[in-house]
Amino acid sequence: MQSSTSVRDSAEKYGLVTRVLHWGMALLFAWQFTSALAHMLFEDTAIDEFFWGTHKPVGLVLMVLILIRAVWGLLNLKRRPPADSMAAGLGHLALYVLMLVVPAVALFRQYGSGRKFEAFGMTIMQGFEESQKIQWMIDLGSNFHKILGYLLLIMIVGHIFFAIRHYLKGDTHITDRML
Ligand code: HEM
Ligand code: HEM
Repeated sequence: MQSSTSVRDSAEKYGLVTRVLHWGMALLFAWQFTSALAHMLFEDTAIDEFFWGTHKPVGLVLMVLILIRAVWGLLNLKRRPPADSMAAGLGHLALYVLMLVVPAVALFRQYGSGRKFEAFGMTIMQGFEESQKIQWMIDLGSNFHKILGYLLLIMIVGHIFFAIRHYLKGDTHITDRML
């Protein structure tokens, strides 16, 4: 029998680390998309100013967490509960790809711009002469960060919809294993 506080995943339930990463990151994603939507809808208002200042630091934290989560997921791949269907498995894979690509292209753009990047009182990128900026990195971020960011949002909304539908239909084993 598997204890509900087991650290690693098992075929019946996601372990503690997976669940803390899932729900902790869900909260951070909620904050991150609030800052993105505030920036789009209420540009140059106090709401935008309040949230937007957190967008890059929280995005950086999400980038680190998704790398940890991806490695943890691979280490637990054979142990964790099997996907409910091929579509659910592919949906989770697509979420992983977007969770990696969306902050990564933004960080490439940040680096390529040559501008110094500081977060949490630390220098993350030193920056360099603007005349040396790396155009392909800037283009990568400018062409893909926003659009893929909103695609990720749509996929998350779909993911939550299907999770709630499972719960309401009585397939509670699907929701229980992440709770
Ligand atoms: C998983 C993490 C992230 C998500 C989900 C995300 C999502 C988004 C979204 C949806 C927008 C469009 C906002 C609008 O419509 O105005 C946006 C814009 C932006 N993001 Fe992020 N972001 C993330 C991480 C980052 C990181 C790490 C950085 C930089 C270090 C960054 C920098 C920016 C900048 C400068 C913009 C405005 C320019 C643009 O629209 O591309 N983001 N982000
Ligand atoms: C209210 C919000 C959320 C609910 C109710 C929810 C619910 C669930 C449930 C029930 C599972 C287990 C599904 C299964 O084993 O077949 C799951 C797994 C998963 N969820 Fe969520 N989720 C939420 C938010 C998010 C967010 C914001 C993300 C980020 C993209 C996300 C990404 C994932 C992924 C990738 C999995 C597969 C297991 C893993 O590798 O962590 N979820 N979710």
